Amino acid sequence: MKKLRSQEWYGREGRDGFLYRSWMKNQGWPHDLFEGRPVIGICNTWSELTPCNAHFRELAEWVKRGVWEAGGFPLEFPVMSLGETQLRPTAMLFRNLASMDVEESIRGNPIDGVVLLMGCDKTTPSLLMGAASCGLPTIGVSGGPMLSGKFRGGDLGSGTGLWQMTDQLRKGEMKPEEYYQAESCMHRSKGHCMTMGTASTMANMVEALGMSLPGNAAIPAVDARRNTLAQMSGRRIVEMVRQDLGISKILTRAAFENAIRALAAVGGSTNAVIHLIAIAGRIGVPLSLEDFDRIGASLPCLVNLQPAGQHLMEDYFYAGGLPAVLRQLGEAGVLNRDALTVNGHSTWENVREAPCWNRDVIHSIEQPLKANSGITVLRGNLAPDGAIIKLAAASPHLLQHRGRAVVFESIEECHARIEDDSLDVDENCVLVLKNCGPIGYPGMAEVGNILLPPKLLRKGVTDMIRISDARMSGTAYGTVILHVCPEAAAGGPLALVQSGDMIELDVAHRELRLEVDENSLAARRAKWTPPPLPKRGWARLYAEHVMQADKGADFDFLVGNSGAVVARDSH
Ligand code: FES
Repeated sequence: MKKLRSQEWYGREGRDGFLYRSWMKNQGWPHDLFEGRPVIGICNTWSELTPCNAHFRELAEWVKRGVWEAGGFPLEFPVMSLGETQLRPTAMLFRNLASMDVEESIRGNPIDGVVLLMGCDKTTPSLLMGAASCGLPTIGVSGGPMLSGKFRGGDLGSGTGLWQMTDQLRKGEMKPEEYYQAESCMHRSKGHCMTMGTASTMANMVEALGMSLPGNAAIPAVDARRNTLAQMSGRRIVEMVRQDLGISKILTRAAFENAIRALAAVGGSTNAVIHLIAIAGRIGVPLSLEDFDRIGASLPCLVNLQPAGQHLMEDYFYAGGLPAVLRQLGEAGVLNRDALTVNGHSTWENVREAPCWNRDVIHSIEQPLKANSGITVLRGNLAPDGAIIKLAAASPHLLQHRGRAVVFESIEECHARIEDDSLDVDENCVLVLKNCGPIGYPGMAEVGNILLPPKLLRKGVTDMIRISDARMSGTAYGTVILHVCPEAAAGGPLALVQSGDMIELDVAHRELRLEVDENSLAARRAKWTPPPLPKRGWARLYAEHVMQADKGADFDFLVGNSGAVVARDSH
């Protein structure tokens, strides 16, 4: 076995060895633990302010069991945790900050391998990005989804149910007291959102990338098998260290292609596009928006989960989870079968006999839930560097459409005007929201699924085209064009759109066009001034260094990796 990295700390003689070991012994560790056991860092995003990860201290104990059993030495450490529903102005503003915390915490400490405990939306990409920039053997353990929400005898999905009930409330079809009753019914167990929102999508991405043991994505947080998976992951990471199976051997181009295909097949969140590009950037795998269109757009959606479908993550687990989906893709010849996974087996070896127990939840590739429903990339004079649309969640009748723009310069203006029945808007209009991108918000908030005007809801309108430089919650739905690049605050053409302009969407030809001639656009540009940057602190650093969504919204100076070597001692 290669010399353990941790022995550069604990295997030292004299003053250095004394210093590195002695302070650790204040926790009661006996001396022999420092004599050549693989040290496994358990990177924990536990926080009571991240409710989806609030059970992670217990989960970490199961990982530790496995590490001890395999002869390792587990050491748990906290990193910045990002609670999607609590953090203002948006958890995404802090994804890169958390990734830096993870990267430096791993690299600076005497760790040989790392287990990533992740759940709520941004906790998964931030940990993978940080770990990818270090390169140590790494295994992911997701916290698992909540049990299905239940309300009035039926399912109530995280987020998706909220968007639906909010429209019912605004239409006067639901009473406020009923709306508030639903709060306790939607989220009734530990775990993350149980729709195919961003957390569930990213848990599927972890598994599709080969970064977790098979079955990781779907096991409910409260199911005993979640603990078993954590324990087995603890055992496995010790073996990975002994085999020198670093993260770069797992996160290959083939793995990312599998993730893109899985994203289409599960009807996953648009947020995965940004996160996968950012993770790939850290590990040095080229990945572009075009890859999502070319590899994933023509694939069918197989998984009948909200928001694209009907069921919830608990049903997905009982039906067979991601292994059943990947088997379908493998049998159809659209899976890189040889991609290596953390258990040492190929993706195909892991899934080739995976059963499906419910074809209403996981459809076959011959009879998919929806055809051609992967993430689709649009371009044109309104989005020269691209924009995306999730076809699985869009209305087919709007995919070829020409309409009059109704423009909101900010989210505040949108909130103030959209509820006003005097707003000059009809169902054929295109709602345009500006200044909600990475720089503009800042942090690219999930506000792209603009609420429909109540006067149109009352008319029975259920969807309209919405365009913005924002993101959208993975639990949301509609014909929503997101991540317009460059964003308005960076001077993209989106900044120049005015109410009354005509906009044409042509998904079949991948086009998003603003029908304003070049001279008029040039005149508008001459009058445009960029919004002021935040004055100080993290938001300032963020605005100065964040790249656009098509580059994963990572920082320009964080792309790539620095390995795990730290040559200097601390004393
Ligand atoms: Fe944490 Fe949805 S809010 S996963």
